[in-house]
Amino acid sequence: MAETIDTADTATTSISALEHRHLLGLATYSAEEIQLILQTAREFREVLERPIKRVPTLRGVTVVNLFFEPSTRTRISFELAEKRLSADTVNFSASGSSVSKGETLKDTAQNIEAMKIDMAVIRHKSPGAPHWLTRCVDAVVINAGDGAHEHPTQALLDLLTMSEHFSSFKGLNVSILGDITHSRVARSNIFALTTLGANVTLCGPKTLIPYDIEHLGVRVTHRLDEALEGCDVAMALRIQLERQGSSLFPSLREYHDHFGITLDHMVRHPDLLIMHPGPVNRGVELASEVVDHERAIILNQVTNGVAIRMAVLYLLAEPPGEEESRPG
Ligand code: CP
Repeated sequence: MAETIDTADTATTSISALEHRHLLGLATYSAEEIQLILQTAREFREVLERPIKRVPTLRGVTVVNLFFEPSTRTRISFELAEKRLSADTVNFSASGSSVSKGETLKDTAQNIEAMKIDMAVIRHKSPGAPHWLTRCVDAVVINAGDGAHEHPTQALLDLLTMSEHFSSFKGLNVSILGDITHSRVARSNIFALTTLGANVTLCGPKTLIPYDIEHLGVRVTHRLDEALEGCDVAMALRIQLERQGSSLFPSLREYHDHFGITLDHMVRHPDLLIMHPGPVNRGVELASEVVDHERAIILNQVTNGVAIRMAVLYLLAEPPGEEESRPG
């Protein structure tokens, strides 16, 4: 079990800039790049504690938020992060746009970029849509969730939240529970956590765990008790009924009986922390009392989302006069 501490971890980074121009996923990000984002987010978290939560870091930078899929947390926290950094922001939703008239992603993006956009944040139901966007526009692209592929800023905010409780990711035991097959959150967390040396266990019904996923360096079990034994953090995933073409388990009640975390689990594992990317199906992945439990750090994840998105925007942007706009 990993050592617990009171404050953010002490890991330092040996680099001062990201090697990537875009954030499309964490599969190719190095441990140093991930630690740089976390360290930068900690500095921005201090900005968010100030009475005036705004720095001029991205003044003159224009960011478009392209949301082709519904979102609450990711969309609002990107918008807040951009405002906290003094960027100019434009919000786009597929509903009410010319997408409903048949306009393609490429044409939509190129028309928006023609209005002088520097950075594009994109959520899309199709895996690879952010990659495709990098071939259509010159703007820096940030993936805000693409189908079942990756959700890198979600995993980064998850890591930041874990680092508030543990001194190191090396040897940290994290169990990811539920619908792994349809989860971009699981994939990004698997890449980042294994890169940083954590032990990742996946647990869920066989129908919701991809065959041969052990090649990503994770352990698989189909027994919740086994996944929770020695576990530091349990990350429950939402059952994504909207992405499942057919029923992959008999009923939600049966799913909860086998894979849902209950108060009984919290009693039996007195140090266990509970995370969830949201939105939660209360009574399915987590008993309602567990969602509200003092060891459920779900709202801390949401709070950290703003700092992480500020860090990502800051590190990927090339704003004028960036030296004088550093946090702190
Ligand atoms: N965690 C997450 O991506 O939530 P939203 O879909 O509300 O953005």
